[in-house]
Amino acid sequence: MNTILSSPTQGLSGKFRVPGDKSISHRAVMLGSLAEGVTEVTGFLEAEDALATLACFQAMGVKIDRLSEGRLRIYGVGLHGLKAPENALYVGNSGTSMRLLSGILAGQPFDSVLTGDNSLTKRPMRRVIDPLTLMGAVVNSSDKGTSPLEIKGGQSLEGIQYQMPMGSAQVKSCLLLAGLYANGTTEISEPAVTRDHTERMLRGFGYAVKTEGNVVSLRGGGKLEAMSIDVPADISSAAFFLVAASITPNSNITLEHVGVNRTRTGVIDILLKMGADIQLQNERTVGGEKVADIRVRSSQLNGIDVPENLVALAIDEFPVIFIAAAYAKGKTRVTGAEELRVKESDRIQAMADGLQRLGVDAQATIDGMIINGGPVYGGEVESVDDHRIAMAFAVAGLQAEGVIKINNCENVATSFPNFVALASQCGFNLNAK
Ligand code: S3P
Repeated sequence: MNTILSSPTQGLSGKFRVPGDKSISHRAVMLGSLAEGVTEVTGFLEAEDALATLACFQAMGVKIDRLSEGRLRIYGVGLHGLKAPENALYVGNSGTSMRLLSGILAGQPFDSVLTGDNSLTKRPMRRVIDPLTLMGAVVNSSDKGTSPLEIKGGQSLEGIQYQMPMGSAQVKSCLLLAGLYANGTTEISEPAVTRDHTERMLRGFGYAVKTEGNVVSLRGGGKLEAMSIDVPADISSAAFFLVAASITPNSNITLEHVGVNRTRTGVIDILLKMGADIQLQNERTVGGEKVADIRVRSSQLNGIDVPENLVALAIDEFPVIFIAAAYAKGKTRVTGAEELRVKESDRIQAMADGLQRLGVDAQATIDGMIINGGPVYGGEVESVDDHRIAMAFAVAGLQAEGVIKINNCENVATSFPNFVALASQCGFNLNAK
């Protein structure tokens, strides 16, 4: 799938489930591998990023059976049972794999190397290297602080108290995972609440983790006990349909079994503030995670100042939130979102460039964007090899004045391989070539 052509359509409908949550899928493989006993996983995201994590643990001697679509059986080897991989561990485009794995590998008796694709090897890794080094780990990177990361085994790690300089669930999770191998307590304070799947899943595996406000801590030296994990549908994938149905008149979509952990629902809160018609139905708790069916119908969206306290809770959804803003009446301002510049692409620049090409009044700022809603014209935009940029512009095409052509869309496969099929089924007018 090199290019996607997205043409205007009239009315989206259907009731369906988007693929499994990416963050939870990574963690299920990691903790299942490090647990004692057999962990069964359903709803696992069969996409490149989560499969990269799976392949890394297989390369470290963990037997993982792929039983059927989304079903895994992981034969855990215990916290001290991983074997030295024969080659560098390649994690493709996946920042989550690299940053979380670096924490686990820092505590192993063997040396290892983590590497990734062109985009990942440009992303900042000092944010994990610096605190891991404070714990006693030895991690070498390029002079710029980028991967490949060479992690020296056989170090004795010490728990630390660490104040994270940025809101990042990947950094927090990396340190918690290293903390499993450290002497004493590892305590992390975050400047803003970020997704807490690692903490929740560790507790599910029987490991004590304390959360007090923005401070999370655990003591090293315990063990994980195998469990069953039902991975909910990914709210980050559902987000494309929340915006799609909102901006397309005569739409009514229900997204089933979506994870609605409150550290992930910023996109719903932002869209509700813009005037979206979204309802959570059948709210329930599955394996420690909140899940709901989400119904979304068309509505007139209005521009807003996005509250900064919602930014970390919607961090992956901004590409499509910017599309919502382009179709909204009035001005939308996003601030405090500088982390968007170090995602799979610089998502502020990529979205501002694309929106301007479509005739939208969008101005990038250092830490966000100002968008004046108005007509969206057809045109050609670049995904810059970023899955969420590609899918966001596919949504933009639903009500544009012409066809939107999105170049280089292969990376959709990193998080949402059946996007084109599912979107077409509910009424998108897509042509993927
Ligand atoms: C993730 C955390 C976020 C998010 C990423 C997944 C995770 O990254 O953008 O897609 O699974 O922990 P940061 O921690 O860099 O904000």
